[in-house]
Amino acid sequence: MSLQSIAKQMVAKGKGILAADESSGTIERKFAKVGLTSTEDNRRAYRGMLFTSPGIGNYISGAILFDETIKQKAPDGRTMVSILEAEGILPGIKVDQGTKDMEGSPGEKITKGLDGLGERLKEYATLGAKFAKWRSVITIGNGIPTDANIKQQTKDLAAYALECQKAGIVPMVEPEVLMDGGHTIERCVEASEKTLTALFEELKAAGVDISGTILKTNMMVPGKESGTRATPEQVADATVAVFKKVLPNDLPGQAFLSGGQEDVEATENLNAINKKGPFPWNLSFSYGRALQDSALKAWNGKSENIIAAQQVFLKRAKMNSLATEGKYKGE
Ligand code: 13P
Repeated sequence: MSLQSIAKQMVAKGKGILAADESSGTIERKFAKVGLTSTEDNRRAYRGMLFTSPGIGNYISGAILFDETIKQKAPDGRTMVSILEAEGILPGIKVDQGTKDMEGSPGEKITKGLDGLGERLKEYATLGAKFAKWRSVITIGNGIPTDANIKQQTKDLAAYALECQKAGIVPMVEPEVLMDGGHTIERCVEASEKTLTALFEELKAAGVDISGTILKTNMMVPGKESGTRATPEQVADATVAVFKKVLPNDLPGQAFLSGGQEDVEATENLNAINKKGPFPWNLSFSYGRALQDSALKAWNGKSENIIAAQQVFLKRAKMNSLATEGKYKGE
């Protein structure tokens, strides 16, 4: 399959991506919230439960996996990858290796993972990965983000994207302006616009084929500790305005992260954004928390809860599927 056709399939109308690529530390924290221990068996049972939800392929085009999961078998003995493929879902893989503090800039992070990336991508391609994800976090605070941080992070995203395309894998480039903090929506707009402008400059300079690339970024929202919440209309207006300025027309699509929004809020905002279309690019979702949190609670590690948890998960997937076409009418 060509990079372009994979990318188009990832953001097809009515579908979106399930981010199930929590690193060991993140899944441990998520499980702890519902009183579960993060053992390999629990992780297998949980992800197996999500991926075998009946009809998942009607709403989900791709699933991002962690290294363990792309090599893992589900409780029913099939590989996780073959379960996804049987539903027509593209397997994806997280290839960044987390973040480290940026030298000389307290409070800012740099994403790790370029060392040996080409070799890892080759292996993931043989395991069935059709796309990959690399997440860079941009923090808003006193005097940050700095231009130096944005420059390095977008350069690294471009280097990663080029390696992916060489391996026949579609890069999902994820610059995430974090919701953490008490900042206004205007500061989110400013940081996002700067970051996305730099990102597309770096991608072009590196020779990355934009038509075989998917963007994954944040909506324009105020900080979590700002004490305010923007309405879906305000989020949509601000987000679409930034995208119209900076996204190239040959980008096939953009799949939002949920970033700490409540699950219904993330659906309402996506719907409001798509009501402003049509756009040159498809605007879809690649949610982790907003697709999974309620299902994880419903499952709670118990096999007798699997069917109920799958229904909760499928409902969120369906609501977001409707929102990719601006057809969501409430719960
Ligand atoms: P959230 O939707 O929970 O932000 O996760 C998406 C993701 O993959 C972040 O890298």
